[in-house]
Amino acid sequence: MLDLPDDFVKVLKSATRVAVLTGAGISAESGVPTFRGEEGLWKKFRAEELATVEAFITNPELVWEWYLWRRQLMADVKPNPGHYALVEMEEYYDNFTLITQNVDGLHRRAGSKNILELHGNIELNKCFNCGRPFVGEVNINAGAMPVCDCGGKIRPDVVWFGEMLPERAINGAFEASTGAELFFSVGTSALVHPAASMPVTAKQNGAYLIEINLEPTPLTDYCDFYIHGKSGEILPQIIERLTK
Ligand code: OAD
Repeated sequence: MLDLPDDFVKVLKSATRVAVLTGAGISAESGVPTFRGEEGLWKKFRAEELATVEAFITNPELVWEWYLWRRQLMADVKPNPGHYALVEMEEYYDNFTLITQNVDGLHRRAGSKNILELHGNIELNKCFNCGRPFVGEVNINAGAMPVCDCGGKIRPDVVWFGEMLPERAINGAFEASTGAELFFSVGTSALVHPAASMPVTAKQNGAYLIEINLEPTPLTDYCDFYIHGKSGEILPQIIERLTK
């Protein structure tokens, strides 16, 4: 059983406005590789070769190859107890916002509703030129690359390095962070902005800040409470404490 400090349990039980920021770590127990660390995706692939506008202009086939591989990998995995615990958390609070940096769609598949996807969703496509959504198979064999009615190439609907985040998601996320009484940072290295500044915004505006991670991050010392361990094991225990 987790040893939780009294001040945390008090906020956990009394808060009405709660926000959670998740990163790749919450999906690690589902089998989705994280970005950094020993097994991280960025060790095997160079980000600047794959997740940038320049990369897509230079070599759209290579970029698509990587995204189709990840899309398949993510389609084959299932939400884990950490995702499901956040579904239960949403049911408990009047005002609950789930901010995620993940593009895997696992929060939605678990049943979470009020989700803000900061970095897009790997299941979706859009036009590189006009941004219009594209529904349909993406085939990257020679000459088969899909194009929009406007003539633009189809790309994954994710945010690449150097791109703006979707406006609705970023505004909603900062609003939820500012208003939160309790803020969880779960499974993120807290290195990529602006997501990494959301827990700080929350705390500056009076939230109790808690981090759940396998290892300390730049955020850890700033938190009111840090729990070291797997989110798929810790979050269900927090829910148990919340509901009993
Ligand atoms: P990272 O790969 O940077 O960090 C994952 C974090 O999860 C690390 O701090 C791990 O210690 C932690 N972790 C791993 N397994 C865990 C588990 N079972 N339980 C709890 N924590 C665990 O991933 P993100 O922080 O999500 O952006 O990366 C942020 C962004 O960087 C990504 O959204 C992506 C990348 O560049 C874009 O693609 C735009």
